[in-house]
Amino acid sequence: MSQSNHEQPPILDVRGMTKHFPVGVLFNKRQVHAVEDASFTVQCGQVVALVGESGSGKTTTIRMIARLIPVTQGEIFFEGANILKTEPRWASMDYRSKVQLIFQDPFASLNSVHTIEHHLARPLIIHKKASGRQEIHERVCDLLETVELKPAAEIANRYPHQLSGGQRQRVAIARALAVDPQLILADEPISMLDVSIRMGVLNLIDKLKEERGISYVYITHDLASARYIGDKIMVMYAGHMVEGGDGEALMKEAAHPYTQLLLSAVPNPHAGLRTDNGIGARGEVPSLINPPPGCPFSARCLKVMKPCRQVMPGQTVVQAGHWVRCHLFGPGGNS
Ligand SMILES: Nc1ncnc2c1ncn2[C@@H]1O[C@H](COP(=O)(O)OP(=O)(O)OP(=O)(O)O)[C@@H](O)[C@H]1O
Ligand SMILES: [Mg+2]
Repeated sequence: MSQSNHEQPPILDVRGMTKHFPVGVLFNKRQVHAVEDASFTVQCGQVVALVGESGSGKTTTIRMIARLIPVTQGEIFFEGANILKTEPRWASMDYRSKVQLIFQDPFASLNSVHTIEHHLARPLIIHKKASGRQEIHERVCDLLETVELKPAAEIANRYPHQLSGGQRQRVAIARALAVDPQLILADEPISMLDVSIRMGVLNLIDKLKEERGISYVYITHDLASARYIGDKIMVMYAGHMVEGGDGEALMKEAAHPYTQLLLSAVPNPHAGLRTDNGIGARGEVPSLINPPPGCPFSARCLKVMKPCRQVMPGQTVVQAGHWVRCHLFGPGGNS
């Protein structure tokens, strides 16, 4: 994976983003602490992989960035502008065309009664990227060829159920590309695909990054695909970002016991990569409803210390471009 230009200001800069969902009624009102104080940046042409187990807050994070749900607290800067302040509450057409979403289930995101041409023509028309039947058809075919679906004219006439899962996900990517986005938020785009075709979709994502300079926030459960595609990796646990940094550095020198636990489950194709570090796990993920203070992983961590149960540590830089929030490395606050 190529290195991105870190001299430029980030295309996306998320600061202290928090989401608490109110649940319950009357005297039993409670809050689900889905995302707590998440901060990260995405450079132009960079893939930031967000990794964590189910319920860790990954989808909620990108739904806030896409402005599908309001944030409870925090700021989101896109191309330098605080989008929560400078735009109306529900995202403008301009922001929607620059920031696109790709979902986990390509079948659910395509309407079975419409042809592929219809799905791709719609954003072109709505965002005024093409007009007239011929121009729209040509653009649709271009998009299909870009995502390596050929023969494009024939695929355009098909219905979603006439395509394989991998082909449908490529159509979903083509639909996102129709509006010339700068940032794609991809929510587990390969997890429902057959293992044999996952690599093809990952390589397509990478190709679009290289050729078009598109940036991504790429969500996955699986550290192996994060390692493959991510220039930067952010690890989430129970709503908190617990470790983040340059993909290779983080994989070689994973600091947080939770990241080490994830790593121990990844097959090791490279010599020197940690896979067996003696970090096991016990206990369960804490409730996100009124969670206890301290590090959310403390209930499972075999290296737990007294402060871990009392206060969530700040960020500690372990090496350039790599930080962790773990008391083993200090109380944090040096970044
Ligand atoms: N609308 C909502 N109301 C209440 N709680 C919610 C809502 N949406 C999400 N949550 C809760 O927020 C937490 C984080 O959910 P989220 O979908 O972001 O996790 P995730 O990391 O994407 O999980 P998965 O890998 O299973 O998709 C979960 O506990 C979930 O139940
Ligand atoms: Mg999710």
